[in-house]
Amino acid sequence: MKEKMPAHIAIIMDGNGRWARKRGLPRTAGHKQGAQTIRSIAIACNERGVKVLSVYAFSTENWKRPQDEVDYLCKLPRFFFNRYMEELIKNNIQVRFLGEIERFPEDTRNVILSAVEKTKHNSGLILCLAVNYGGRREITLAAQRYAAAVLKGEADLQIEEEAFSRYLMSSELPDVDLMIRTSGEQRLSNFLLWSNAYAEFIFTPVAWPDFDEKQLDLAIQEYQERDRRYGGIS
Ligand code: IPE
Ligand code: IPE
Ligand code: MG
Repeated sequence: MKEKMPAHIAIIMDGNGRWARKRGLPRTAGHKQGAQTIRSIAIACNERGVKVLSVYAFSTENWKRPQDEVDYLCKLPRFFFNRYMEELIKNNIQVRFLGEIERFPEDTRNVILSAVEKTKHNSGLILCLAVNYGGRREITLAAQRYAAAVLKGEADLQIEEEAFSRYLMSSELPDVDLMIRTSGEQRLSNFLLWSNAYAEFIFTPVAWPDFDEKQLDLAIQEYQERDRRYGGIS
């Protein structure tokens, strides 16, 4: 068995609402519990030498949810960083984000920007929060930036994939190695379309609030047993 750790794990943290409903709780209780799972899985990834953990926290489609749920999700970053910032710093974790945070209330934006600022010199795991993120939106924005560069004569029309990828908001991150989606759904829901091109996908029925280190290790083990051929032959 190859013991190689995935450098970049991406997680579609799904099932918070169903987790809460099953317990007779409001959906928001599931989101709160799910935020605690981000903490424990980030620390576990850091301990295992994973370089990047990207978590899908709010999609460009999630604005369709009832206003009170959207409001709650907007307040979660404050809850999360108030509670765990010290621990993230102690663990040398660097916080980043992907997505157009301009659309969030000022307080939410400031909390996220301040977490990024306070941890920017940390050299452990990169914990990347995808907030108001959409994969198609990311590629569309990259195309806009690229077209502008062409018009200014700063980029060549015959661009290669590698050069184009530098216009993406995820350009600083390596491609996804392992993509996990919790709670039984088997779809990408517009997450990291470009960087997931050759990711290994693992779907688990476990709801995100119940996802733990043991589940993480099972997913990593399954990943390590796979043969990544990238179109070649083994
Ligand atoms: C994932 O859980 C969290 C977000 C999308 C913000 P859901 O809220 O989608 O939970 P389910 O899928 O309705 O159970
Ligand atoms: C994907 O989950 C988005 C996040 C986890 C933030 P959703 O629950 O919103 O996705 P769908 O509706 O099942 O595709
Ligand atoms: Mg869902």
